[in-house]
Amino acid sequence: MSIEVRYYSRGSNTRRLAEAVAKELGVSAVSVEQPMNGRADVVFLCASVYAGGPDKAVTTFVRQNARDIGRLVVLSTSASGKSTHAKLKAAAEDMGVTVSDAYFQCPGAFMVLHRGRPNAEDCARAAEFAKAQL
Ligand SMILES: Cc1cc2nc3c(=O)[nH]c(=O)nc-3n(C[C@H](O)[C@H](O)[C@H](O)COP(=O)(O)O)c2cc1C
Repeated sequence: MSIEVRYYSRGSNTRRLAEAVAKELGVSAVSVEQPMNGRADVVFLCASVYAGGPDKAVTTFVRQNARDIGRLVVLSTSASGKSTHAKLKAAAEDMGVTVSDAYFQCPGAFMVLHRGRPNAEDCARAAEFAKAQL
């Protein structure tokens, strides 16, 4: 089974989560700003909340690579506890891409909130979640 772990991260929170998932699955975490190089059965998409939803770079990635994505699994962090899953699922399904109902969400440090999150425990839980989706 071919697997990709992709992320969009303005700070480092989402990248750290993606790197933990990638390490567990034996692949590298790659930015959504890099095009896909062939088909992947499962793409773990680590996309946190900015101004209420995923960054445009994330939906652009899905659109540009729709034919090469077998299934998307969303992981995100946020200050509020909200996830990008619902918006990404709606947008991706409009593009013909399947998105798993299961998703991972944890707090992400933002200003004075959630200092240090995602922490080692969050990263370990994300890695376990990802493994269970295969
Ligand atoms: C510009 C900006 C806008 C944000 N908007 C929201 C938001 O609308 N809702 C929310 O819950 N968190 C929001 N956050 C918090 C981020 O989701 C959180 O800090 C996340 O962990 C950032 O990941 P990153 O370090 O990979 O960029 C925002 C953060 C930034 C920097």
